[in-house]
Amino acid sequence: MHVNGRPVTILGLESSCDETAAAIVSSDGQVAADVVHSQVEIHAPYGGVVPEIASRDHLRAMGPVVREALARANLSLRDVDAVAVTHRPGLIGALLVGVQLAKGIAWASHKPIVGVDHLIGHLLSPFVRRSADDRPPLFPYIALLASGGHTAIYRVDGPLAKDIRELGATRDDAAGECFDKVAKLLGLGYPGGPEIDRLAKQGDPTRVSLVRPMAHRKGFEFSFSGLKTQIAEIVARERPMSEEGIANLCASFQATATHVLVDKLVAAARVEGVRHIVITGGVAANRELRARATAAASAFGLELSVPAFASCTDNAAMIAYAGAQRFLAGEQDSLDLAATSVSALPRRTSRGPGPRP
Ligand code: KG4
Ligand code: ZN
Repeated sequence: MHVNGRPVTILGLESSCDETAAAIVSSDGQVAADVVHSQVEIHAPYGGVVPEIASRDHLRAMGPVVREALARANLSLRDVDAVAVTHRPGLIGALLVGVQLAKGIAWASHKPIVGVDHLIGHLLSPFVRRSADDRPPLFPYIALLASGGHTAIYRVDGPLAKDIRELGATRDDAAGECFDKVAKLLGLGYPGGPEIDRLAKQGDPTRVSLVRPMAHRKGFEFSFSGLKTQIAEIVARERPMSEEGIANLCASFQATATHVLVDKLVAAARVEGVRHIVITGGVAANRELRARATAAASAFGLELSVPAFASCTDNAAMIAYAGAQRFLAGEQDSLDLAATSVSALPRRTSRGPGPRP
């Protein structure tokens, strides 16, 4: 974990979607600074991320965010061992802003550059230490990654891409995307996850019965588009809905979505014979998902690691941490590092409906 007896210090940059972020993290997970500029307000009127607006805002915010991170850590670029940057997957125009700035910093300060896969950042996020209570997992572990762009289960045997294997993913919408779309159907704000999380607490999940998608299928694939359609049909039938009706629907939807996510995570751990499980990604901020995962872990004798809230949604601390692990393993990139919209992790589940072998 160390170079010349000390942990390495990494400046991480993240701009793959709608958060402009920079962080300074050491290879043992200690966070010296973690700055996140969220674009949520500028995308909210559209009910989703508008790629061109995202790129322009990253361009405006990225420089100040990096300066702020260095200032908060009370460090200069001289104190940093390498620059890590998310270069895949994500919105290509948004990724380019972070990648170009990282190259500029690396070139000007003669520091190595390390490209990071955003999904690997999420998968390693439980190692980012924000408080004494954090309990990082041990390898191997089974991780549920549920965010606005991705939903999949992985077996993680180590911190590098070669150590990570997808066991199953969503065939259609991501879980976070489904929270956002359901919130939009119910006339709630964007992003929908936190709104549904809040309203679900006031509702009764037994009042509306929903079919749990893919619940009885073997394997670890998900499907969320049908769940969204079930909600759309209820909303169309019962419009205008009372506040109580909306809260009940939020509670049922959240219970259904989190149930299926946790069931598959636990089933994967049992099939793989792995004791440690992890939940990551923006949806891992959901209180019911955290509670269900905690209950399931104790029921099945599994060890659960849940990242801090700030490590679940997009941030650069997880990118710096993942970059540190690549750097320590002797992996780095050249100034030819390219941004690309697809992950380095091989997909087992291809998009689209239909039978699987
Ligand atoms: O990881 P993230 O910040 O960005 C991506 O990489 O996609 O995840 C954002 C997603 C959004 O869809 C948002 O609605 C969802 O995470 N989210 C939540 C909660 N907080 C954020 N979903 C359910 N409950 C939450 N509390
Ligand atoms: Zn993400």
